Amino acid sequence: MSLLPLLNSRFAAALSAVGAPDAQPLVQAASRPEFGDYQMNGVMGAAKALKLNPRELAQKIIDAVDLAGIASTLEIAGPGFINIKLDNAYLAAYVETALKDEHLGVEQSPAQHVMVEYSSVNLAKEMHVGHLRSTIIGDALARVQSFVGMSVTRQNHVGDWGTQFGMLVAFLIEEQQSGNAELALKDLEGFYRRAKARFDEDENFANTARDYVVKLQGGDAEVNALWQRFVEVSLSHCNAVYQKLNVLLDDGDVRGESFYNNDLPIIVDELREQGLLVESEGAQVVFLDEFKNKDGEPQASIIQKKDGGYLYATTDLGAIRFRVRELKIDRCLYVVDARQALHFQQLFTIAKKAKFAPENVSLEHIAFGTMMGEDGKPFKTRSGDVVKLVDLLDEAQERAFALVSEKNPGLDEATRREIANAVGIGALKYADLSKSRTTDYIFNWNAMLSFEGNTAPYLQYAYTRVKSIFRKVSDYDQNAAIVLTEPAEHALALELARFSDVVHAVAKDSQPHLLCAYLYSVATMFSRFYENCPVNQDGVTNASRLKVCDLTAKVLAAGLNLLGIKVLEAM
Ligand code: ARG
Repeated sequence: MSLLPLLNSRFAAALSAVGAPDAQPLVQAASRPEFGDYQMNGVMGAAKALKLNPRELAQKIIDAVDLAGIASTLEIAGPGFINIKLDNAYLAAYVETALKDEHLGVEQSPAQHVMVEYSSVNLAKEMHVGHLRSTIIGDALARVQSFVGMSVTRQNHVGDWGTQFGMLVAFLIEEQQSGNAELALKDLEGFYRRAKARFDEDENFANTARDYVVKLQGGDAEVNALWQRFVEVSLSHCNAVYQKLNVLLDDGDVRGESFYNNDLPIIVDELREQGLLVESEGAQVVFLDEFKNKDGEPQASIIQKKDGGYLYATTDLGAIRFRVRELKIDRCLYVVDARQALHFQQLFTIAKKAKFAPENVSLEHIAFGTMMGEDGKPFKTRSGDVVKLVDLLDEAQERAFALVSEKNPGLDEATRREIANAVGIGALKYADLSKSRTTDYIFNWNAMLSFEGNTAPYLQYAYTRVKSIFRKVSDYDQNAAIVLTEPAEHALALELARFSDVVHAVAKDSQPHLLCAYLYSVATMFSRFYENCPVNQDGVTNASRLKVCDLTAKVLAAGLNLLGIKVLEAM
């Protein structure tokens, strides 16, 4: 069992024994070494309920709790906290087990079907920097869910439907007629801009475009084939970005807005049958008491416009209904910009009311803030255009290449490129994932590419340092037991044993920065360990310590892999 649930369950039993069965044990990793390894913070709550002096109650809990062979000391601190120090032999055995386990001690949850919806770009244009966060946060969360034993469906809910596709198809036909179509599609951004210009300047073109929207939605074969062609090209641009980013999304994960097209009239019918739909100014709307407009009246969510057209929310209702009924999901994480918070609150409220999703299906908006440019303003090129994501990734790799070449001029170019690609992309992703996702942050090349501090290059380098130890030892006793004696050994082993707790916290709250902070801490603890506890001295290898090194390397690699960041054996 992971350490936190284990300690919590033992203290829960102790609380029952002292007459406070309803009190929460609230065990947490200690925030400072002088507080022990863990701290039990639930004494105060229980003392209040029982009307007892907290320090006296703390002693009773210490007397009652069964942590024989797990904790070495339990101490009362402050007004009534219990500081817990784990037993070295227990930790050693824990680490030993983790080392043999394919999940490195990370407890496996009973499998649920978790969907992680991310990236979800609009296919009319190329991916730009605004798509970075959803794509990498979502990918990390999907990896974490799989690692704790969930059955995971990744979903790329691309915007492949709507009026702009009529315009794009009309322009594609023009380009085909002049024989330029294939070339034009190579630059989607330019394609969109030129199509839009045609739409704005030429009334005939605009009418044709509108006509194509109707044909597209009506299932016209020719228009649909052209639309399909456009979608394919656009998705292939996305796939190139996903590959460069080491993000596990492919065509099989795509189920775009168009997929739900035929379900939209059914959504309207079902909402009506349930008495949730009302006509308001010609439109079909749902009034939600939970949300008030500025006049304090229930907010209306439009489901179908007066002209019969459907909205973004209608498609999302169709998607929820499908995911619950057909895919049987238990939980859905929507990794989408925080600016869509209201949309998701309303959407989830309607979905629950309409029973498209039963109460026990968890629908969660995993909101994130905005990535700002180095000047603190919206991220733009010098000329004020949006930055294409692929250009940003290329720049990350080029900058990393310059750094790696400076550090390691002796390596051949192919090796330097390989290192630079992992470091550049890793740095970019880690800089994002290591910040609390709900806040905005300022992009900074120098900070993210630094080999010092809480960065990907630092962690990637730490990993290679651990691996290099193994290249120096020739022979050691694989069967030697792990023995922990020094404080630095205890601290590192404890950190390694916490991997399960941390991964589970990320799986629960979808906060990848907790994993980043943890990995940074593992790397820091390792440095201290390596300074204080010789692994290899006078030609003699300390096999116990080498095994701790082994688990350190494995945890760093697995942790970075959960973030979608590659490690190298040497750099
Ligand atoms: N395509 C949308 C956009 O670019 C994001 C879709 C988010 N997902 C959803 N189910 N609504 O704004």
